[in-house]
Amino acid sequence: MGIAKTTSDLESLYGEALAQYLAGGEEGALHGAYEVGRLALASEVGLLDLAALHHSALIRILAGAHRQDEIGARCSAASQFFTECLSPYEMSQRGYRDAVAALHLLNETLEKEVQRIAHAVHDEAGQLLVVVYLALAEIAKDLTPAMQARIKDVTDLLYQVEGHLRELSHELRPTILDDLGLVPAVRFLADRVSRRSSLAVQVKANLDGRLVPVVEIALYRIIQEALNNAIRHSQAKSVWIQLDEDPGRIVCSIRDDGIGFRPAAGFSETGKKGLGLIGIQERLSAIGGTLQITSEPGRGTELLIVVPKENSNGNSNRTCR
Ligand SMILES: Nc1ncnc2c1ncn2[C@@H]1O[C@H](COP(=O)(O)OP(=O)(O)O)[C@@H](O)[C@H]1O
Ligand SMILES: [Mg+2]
Repeated sequence: MGIAKTTSDLESLYGEALAQYLAGGEEGALHGAYEVGRLALASEVGLLDLAALHHSALIRILAGAHRQDEIGARCSAASQFFTECLSPYEMSQRGYRDAVAALHLLNETLEKEVQRIAHAVHDEAGQLLVVVYLALAEIAKDLTPAMQARIKDVTDLLYQVEGHLRELSHELRPTILDDLGLVPAVRFLADRVSRRSSLAVQVKANLDGRLVPVVEIALYRIIQEALNNAIRHSQAKSVWIQLDEDPGRIVCSIRDDGIGFRPAAGFSETGKKGLGLIGIQERLSAIGGTLQITSEPGRGTELLIVVPKENSNGNSNRTCR
């Protein structure tokens, strides 16, 4: 059987296979049910549409039956047929659940790796620099005052490098996120971004207390990517970040007043599909959140994110306007 494209193709395939099964086709015909299910799934027919298809086929099949026992037998055989038809959907859902679990694990592994790098940059580079300061001080003892002044210039530069490395490590995995939570970490990030770019970043937050760590980390990373996008692509003057709490869910909006884009395309200016928005989507998939992108050329961009407060693995949707 080729790939069915339309619902009416599927409707006749379903009807034929069901009629064959009811006529006593048994195993082979039941395999036909599985095939119709597979084709329906490949043609992106939803479960509700499939149920409607079954319903109309059943009505046709029952039209010729008059006796109660005959109607009962046809109904129960048809329901067996329908169940078999659903098994490709069941398998695909199981695959989806496995993929979400794998994504979860991958995120955790990546986070641990980022944390390790952040610590290495902070602690190990810091310790090495201390050794360099001591060595320079030792060398300076034997030098003329003019050379000592030059060594001091180098030492000052190294202090600056150390400062940058410390800030970078905090940005990679801010200890403030682990210690104080999402809002202080986002304020810290917004402050850093405002200082190193021409963007004015405002944060408004109405969140009480801490969120589960996986939600805090996901939202922090998403806001970080949204700010990177605003710096790299938007030409915006301002970005507004708003974090609110509804019963059971967190709503986060990141809005800029930049040039906007067509979100449905999702392509970067180089023509390659960007990974940032996909990454946001994947992070949200792993925690059952949703993303809505509202953007139009010339009219700024808003990412609206909704995440269940308790982390639940589950479905997520992205809609674009
Ligand atoms: N805030 C924004 N303003 C304007 N364009 C944006 C914004 N965010 C994303 N885009 C557009 O969407 C594309 C995809 O973004 P993303 O997935 O983060 O990939 P990347 O940043 O690597 O290009 C960007 O290349 C850009 O064209
Ligand atoms: Mg990006």
